[in-house]
Amino acid sequence: MSFLDTVTVASQCALPNQVTPLVVLSYDRSMLVGREPEQQRIATLVAGARVRQSGVLVIAGEAGIGKTALLEDTARKADEMQVLRASGSEFEAGLGFSGLHQLLLPTLGLLDHLPAQLRDALEIALTLRSGPAPERFAVGVAALSLLSRCAEDRPLLLLIDDAHLLDPATAETLRFVARRLVADPIALLAFLRPEPDAILYATGLPTLELTGLGIDAATTLIAHEAGGASSPDSAAALHRATAGNPLAIIAGSPARACAAGTGLALSRRASESSIAGRSAKYPVSSMGPHAIAIAGLPSAWRCLATASRAIFTAT
Ligand SMILES: Nc1ncnc2c1ncn2[C@@H]1O[C@H](COP(=O)(O)OP(=O)(O)O)[C@@H](O)[C@H]1O
Ligand SMILES: [Mg+2]
Repeated sequence: MSFLDTVTVASQCALPNQVTPLVVLSYDRSMLVGREPEQQRIATLVAGARVRQSGVLVIAGEAGIGKTALLEDTARKADEMQVLRASGSEFEAGLGFSGLHQLLLPTLGLLDHLPAQLRDALEIALTLRSGPAPERFAVGVAALSLLSRCAEDRPLLLLIDDAHLLDPATAETLRFVARRLVADPIALLAFLRPEPDAILYATGLPTLELTGLGIDAATTLIAHEAGGASSPDSAAALHRATAGNPLAIIAGSPARACAAGTGLALSRRASESSIAGRSAKYPVSSMGPHAIAIAGLPSAWRCLATASRAIFTAT
């Protein structure tokens, strides 16, 4: 089954009492809307890595703004590059070097290429063997050496999601690595929420602030989520209410489709998104799809999403 999910919005989808624009909209589910500048900047950075010009970019944005979606989009376009991933997690934030372990796991077969002192430091840090706690500096140098060795085989793309949740030892090691990448075929992208204590944030690394979608992109997303049944006024109101946050848009937009009995893709979308991690806190079985999505948002967004649903049901 193809990933392609094309939605055709035509005049016959109009609902009663609704002014529906007659547009034909093509929306590929794997395709992002409204992120062309960010995609271009990332593509340039990754292209540099392919020709031994290392690049680092921290991408910062609030919950639901589309960080993971952009990360996945980058991974899809990595072609022949090696991709190493790690993802911060509140469950492992207290486990020293757990994030580094996740990131370097596929490269451990190359450990023998490191000088003994560095190999020892990294092996102990990753608890592959016991020994006196290594210097953080040695672990940083070892990680850098291992990644450089790995990139000799094929250019390397490092993708770190939810970097604000990384254990501090990993975040410090990655910051060390990021500051020393120069002429290696390595691109490092770290996606995080701009929290003050996020070690990879606001520490001089090149940073891109991910903000809300513009009105055109938001309208496309809204039309898709509502199965095409949205008026320009409703879309503009929802865009205003959510400041273009895609997750808030998705949480707010399908009410009309729901009322029309056309069914929703929301529960699936919700499970794909960052809110899935909260399902333990908000048991899915006890909630409808809108509630699931909205529960995953920060409290301010929950209010907005609820308000935006009201916009749709009121028009
Ligand atoms: N540019 C976009 N175009 C279409 N859908 C998007 C876009 N950005 C995010 N989404 C959708 O919005 C939801 C939240 O995005 P996500 O990447 O999980 O946010 P974050 O990781 O910042 O919390 C996901 O369902 C995602 O597919
Ligand atoms: Mg995410």
